[in-house]
Amino acid sequence: MKTIDEAIRLRPDGFTDRSIYTDPAVLEQEIEKIFKKAWVLIGHETEVPEPGDYVRKTIAGQPLIQVRGNDGKVRVVYNTCRHRASLVAIEEEGNCAKTNFVCPYHGFEYSADGDLVKVPVADGYGEWFKNEEFGLVELAQFDTFNGMVFGSFNPDAQPLVDYLSSAKEFIDYATKGDGEDLVLVDSYKYDIAGNWKLLIDNTMDGYHVPYVHGSMFEQFGISAEEGISGIARTLGFHGSIDWDEGRPMAERNVNRYMAIFPNITVHYNASGDMFAIRQIEPLNVDNMQVTMWLLAPKSTASREMNERRAAAFTITWGPGGLFGADDARQLEWVQLGMKADCGAPVLAARGLETGDEDDWENEQSMRGFRAGWNHYMNQD
Ligand code: FES
Ligand SMILES: [Fe+2]
Repeated sequence: MKTIDEAIRLRPDGFTDRSIYTDPAVLEQEIEKIFKKAWVLIGHETEVPEPGDYVRKTIAGQPLIQVRGNDGKVRVVYNTCRHRASLVAIEEEGNCAKTNFVCPYHGFEYSADGDLVKVPVADGYGEWFKNEEFGLVELAQFDTFNGMVFGSFNPDAQPLVDYLSSAKEFIDYATKGDGEDLVLVDSYKYDIAGNWKLLIDNTMDGYHVPYVHGSMFEQFGISAEEGISGIARTLGFHGSIDWDEGRPMAERNVNRYMAIFPNITVHYNASGDMFAIRQIEPLNVDNMQVTMWLLAPKSTASREMNERRAAAFTITWGPGGLFGADDARQLEWVQLGMKADCGAPVLAARGLETGDEDDWENEQSMRGFRAGWNHYMNQD
């Protein structure tokens, strides 16, 4: 029989030091080595449907704007003036097609495409100052996948489709309504007093469901322990869990929850035909901000349908809903427990020895995410 020390030595990916959830120095490294090197979720294309539409974003602490240019293209630019650095977009969202972005400090004007189009008293600088060299600075890379806007601060990051690798085919099911594009229905922004990784862990954690969400299942007259079955998958650094909630596994009859490394979770709830995406921004080592978008297939996104969807979502998987609130409260208890300076490792070791790798109660997807974490954190 193995001892825990032997188990840790053989499979260190199943055992985590608490400090990665509590040490501010670790978060600083995560920002530099993970958030600024990998691909991260910026937003959804349909937040900015019309030319000139924009939304302010903060990713890895960086002030950004997601904007649809007058040319129809969605761009991600830094929200900082080329004169003396002020924010140029002050409102959280708006449309700048006619007004441009006008810097509030001295009035530099930038078009929706990011070009510097006006400098008050333009002749003050001299010949070296050329408007075309002082546009808003674009993020090193941005790209879209099924309507999701991704960006990378890293000019050398691999192409997005390669980064998503084996998760691609699984994302389609959860971000396309039977092949149809999704559009934004509603959005939510909220904080959870926990380290950002806890929500990723939680999304891929089937083991907690009968316990944390037991009362929810009871309300629907389902026994959680007996009534759910599912399949967990590790997809490179990403992961997914499919739930059938006691119904036969079949196309469009399966709930799929995914975590895309590092800051994204993707959800399809078959029971309510609900699509949602969450973006996680670390605020500090024990606090995260979550932005959640509820989406629907374009052809079914009538106003009446959307109101019904938003109401159903709010009371179930929304942040104040039965599932959402139970998880948030639980993660805050985890973060408080993490503070205990007792040296005991955090376990993600279920399934290491049994070999039934796709069992929904196992923790292999957390280990996949942890492998991604190690990969990026160990790079120079
Ligand atoms: S800081 Fe923007 S115009 Fe001066
Ligand atoms: Fe949960």
